[in-house]
Formats: sequence, C-alpha cells, structure tokens
Amino acid sequence: MLRHRGCLFLPLLFLLAAGPAEGDAETAEQLSPYFGTKSRYEELHPYLLQDPLSLGPRQPGFPLPPASCAPLQLGAVIRHGTRFPTRKQIEKLGRFHSLVLRRSNSSSGGGSPPCPAAERLARWEMWLRPDMDGKLASRGRRDMEMLAKRLASRFPSFLGPKRRFAFVSSSKHRCLDSSSAFRDGLRQALYGQQPTADKNATMSETFEINDRLMRFFDHCEKFVKDVEDNNTAMHELDAFKEGLEMKKVVEKIANTLCLPVNDLNADLVQVAFFTCSFGLAIKNINTPWCSLFNKEDAKVLEYLNDLKQYWKRSYGYDINSRSSCILFQDIFKHLDQAIMESKSSKPISSPVILQFGHAETLLPLLALMGYFKDEQPLKAHNYHRQLHRKFRSGRIVPYASNLLFVLYHCDQARSPEEEYKIQILLNEQLLRFPHSGETVSLYASLKNHYKDYLQNCHFAEVCAIPKNTTSVV
Ligand SMILES: *[C@@H]1O[C@H](CO)[C@@H](O)[C@H](O)[C@H]1NC(C)=O
Ligand SMILES: *[C@@H]1O[C@H](CO)[C@@H](O)[C@H](O)[C@H]1NC(C)=O
Ligand SMILES: *[C@@H]1O[C@H](CO)[C@@H](O)[C@H](O)[C@H]1NC(C)=O
Ligand SMILES: *[C@@H]1O[C@H](CO)[C@@H](O)[C@H](O)[C@H]1NC(C)=O
Repeated sequence: MLRHRGCLFLPLLFLLAAGPAEGDAETAEQLSPYFGTKSRYEELHPYLLQDPLSLGPRQPGFPLPPASCAPLQLGAVIRHGTRFPTRKQIEKLGRFHSLVLRRSNSSSGGGSPPCPAAERLARWEMWLRPDMDGKLASRGRRDMEMLAKRLASRFPSFLGPKRRFAFVSSSKHRCLDSSSAFRDGLRQALYGQQPTADKNATMSETFEINDRLMRFFDHCEKFVKDVEDNNTAMHELDAFKEGLEMKKVVEKIANTLCLPVNDLNADLVQVAFFTCSFGLAIKNINTPWCSLFNKEDAKVLEYLNDLKQYWKRSYGYDINSRSSCILFQDIFKHLDQAIMESKSSKPISSPVILQFGHAETLLPLLALMGYFKDEQPLKAHNYHRQLHRKFRSGRIVPYASNLLFVLYHCDQARSPEEEYKIQILLNEQLLRFPHSGETVSLYASLKNHYKDYLQNCHFAEVCAIPKNTTSVV
C-alpha cells in the first residue's frame, strides 16, 4: 500500500522538483559547469555517467610503452568524494528557507500578493540536517570505489600478487571514510567478481592519519595568522560580494522571491546555489533552488567561489602554496626511495602510496608546482577579463579529484639518469610539465626544476611567525 502511495506521489514530486521553467531559469545539469569546488567528478569526464569504470579515450603517450618502461611507483593525492554541506552552510540555508517560508505564509494569509517562486520553494522539504556536517555521502563512497577500480585497471602491475598499499589520511571523517571506500574498491578489483582477479593475491596495507601532511594549512602558523584569521586578507572576495555583478544577482533573486533586497546578501545567495549543486551531486536531483539561477548568474557565483580559492588556497598569497612544500617533499622522498631500491635491485617498499585530503590540500600543491596560473591575478574588478581564466576550481578540484605521480623504470637508457621517468596526471589526465611542455619527464630534470622547493623550503621556517611581532589575539 505504501508503495502504491509512493507511485501516486512520484509525478507530483517530480513536478515540484522541476518547477515550471521560469524565463531563463536553468536546471542543475545546465548550471553544473559552474559549481566550482562542489562539482561532481563526472563533470570533467561525462562518459563516467554512463560507465563509471570507463577509462575514457586513449591518451597519446600514456602509459609509457610497456615494452621499455615499467611503472615502479604510484603516488596519489586524492580529495575525498562527494560530501554533505557543512553545518554552517546548512544553518545558513535554514535561515534563507525560513525567509522564503515567511514570505509564502504572508501571501497565503492574504497579507501580500501571491509569489509563485516563494511558494514553490516553501514546499521544498529541508532534508539537510546540521549533523550531516561535511560527512562523506554514499555517492562519495561510490566516487572512491570507482576511482580505485579505474586506477587498478590503468595500472594492473600495481595490483599483481602480494601488493602493498600505504594509506595516509587527514583526520576528517570524510577523508577516513574515503580511504576506506577506496580500499574496498581495490579489494573488489583484486579479489572481486572480475575474472582476472588473482585468487592467490594478497594485499597488505599500512594506514596512517597524518594532518601535518594532509592538513598542512592548519599547522602553518604564518598561514593561519596572515590569511586564515586575517580579516582583511580576503578583501578582493569581500569587494566582489558588494560589487556590481554580484549585486545584480542578489537583486534578481530577491525580486523573484518577492523579498526585500536587504534581506539577502551574497552569502545567502551562494548557499542557495550550493544547495542546487548538493542536490545534483548527492541525490542526482534537480531542486527548485536551481531554477532561481540562469547561466550568467552561475558564472558570477563560480567566480565568487574561485576568488576565495585563489586568495585563500592558491596564488593569492605565497604562504598558501609554500605551506604545502612539506607534502611536496614527502612525495619526492618516496620517489627517491623507490629509485634507490630499484638501483640496488631491492623490492620497492612502497609501490603505491594513497594520500587522502581536501581541495585545500590539492590547490596549494598545484600552485606550488606552477599549474593553472593566470597572467593576471583574480580580482574583484576583473570578472569580465577573467571569463576565460585557467583557474577554475571546478575543473581542477571537483570531488574525488586526484593528482597522480607515476614513476617508471625504463630499459635501453643511454645513462643511469635516463632510466627513471615520470608522468603526472590530474583527474586521470596527463599534465604537461611546466619546464618542458611535455607529458613525460626524466625524473632528474623534474627534481632539478623544483630543486628550490625540495631543498630550500623548510616548513618550520616558512611557517614561523617572527618572534618579536606583537600578536593581536
Ligand atoms: C508558515 O506556515 C506554516 C503552516 O501554516 C507554519 O508551520 C510555519 O511555522 C510558518 N512559517 C513561518 C516562517 O512563519
Ligand atoms: C595459486 O596457488 C596455487 C598453490 O600454491 C598454485 O598451484 C596455482 O598455480 C596458483 N594460481 C595462480 C593463478 O597463480
Ligand atoms: C592581513 O592581510 C593584509 C592583506 O594581505 C596584509 O596587508 C596584512 O599584513 C595582514 N595582517 C596580518 C596580521 O597578517
Ligand atoms: C624585530 O623588531 C625590530 C624592532 O621593532 C625590527 O626592526 C625587526 O625587523 C624585527 N624583526 C623581525 C624578524 O621581524
């Protein structure tokens, strides 16, 4: 009987969710290219929507030809999968939703003229609860399992019998849960249903929680003081919130919902936009929040998100990226070790290293390495000039984003130096090396390119606050 009722309700729910198309209102899928750090991984690789195990089109030059080069080590820095909004975001949304409820009530009571958009949103059921606070969604577990399986089929040699995996994770639940889901995915690839699974294989793992590596930003005093806790450090972001582009969006939303424009601000409008993205990423639905926005609004809100990432996590301040050199050096320490072991014909002690962190882990690291740097900084007043910027967080760090370092040992090298080569992939696509423009590099020349960060960037010094500064706490 319940089921019967459910069936009757379904079309109605669908209508409510989709809402009548309103002028240029868009659906979640049309807005999804602009969801920034709240983007689905599939946004980058739409073929994964059909087949989450697909490896996509062949990439020329990847992997290196197996006849001469064998993968020696895989190092991965992985952002957790799809997550719920944080408590703060959920509470903000609750405030916005009660504004809408009040407006909708006042017209049903006959006090105000009808407002269809507010009434439609008033019927939306607030399904987000504060205790979901940033946790990994079940969709996020799936992101990790599928990523693990794809990596297993991209690098079958790492999954041979008696393989060792070293897991490192941030202490946050969403990262711990991501690493455990990833491990499940690997196990399924290794022992699971696949006919190629080797029943004799054994898998051994080490697991470590390490916030100094995966949440270096919390441990870098200078970053915390100069950027995180500094009220003026985000002045470009604050200026954009009050600027012309953002004002237009806020006014439009206020008009649509028949609310006084002073009741809304950039933060509330952003949380409405996030709610659209969370509906798509977590539940694969189009919520009525989406129909408040059109593509032009979405571009403005994407810029708002990118401005924050740029100034807080990337090129905006040097300390943002320099604080990541502790992780960068850790990655190269493992690569060095693998090469040393290979040279003395020993087994590789850590053939696969999987490190689970955050968008805030990956963005500084990519900035340190020189990727996605625009000629002009992102500023409040250059929105239009930056429409074609490289720095689009949704293309760089969607949920489950991953940065892979693949070290190869190659035969027929002219010198021992040339035996070791490396490729770097971001989100399973080859990155070109900044120093050469190529997609493969001799390990030695990559080390040489980054020697300043590898030798002269000491976390303790870089992150120290000069002793004689008067601290205002
Ligand atoms: C709006 O009306 C509903 C039902 O009459 C009531 O439950 C709710 O508390 C009201 N909300 C506000 C914000 O006035
Ligand atoms: C698995 O182990 C058994 C016993 O050691 C051996 O006979 C068999 O060939 C192995 N199978 C594979 C696929 O390696
Ligand atoms: C805060 O940021 C501003 C802008 O970058 C900078 O000028 C100022 O020195 C910073 N203040 C502190 C206490 O670090
Ligand atoms: C320490 O304080 C002195 C005097 O105020 C100043 O000249 C000097 O530059 C400061 N040193 C550092 C490392 O900030």
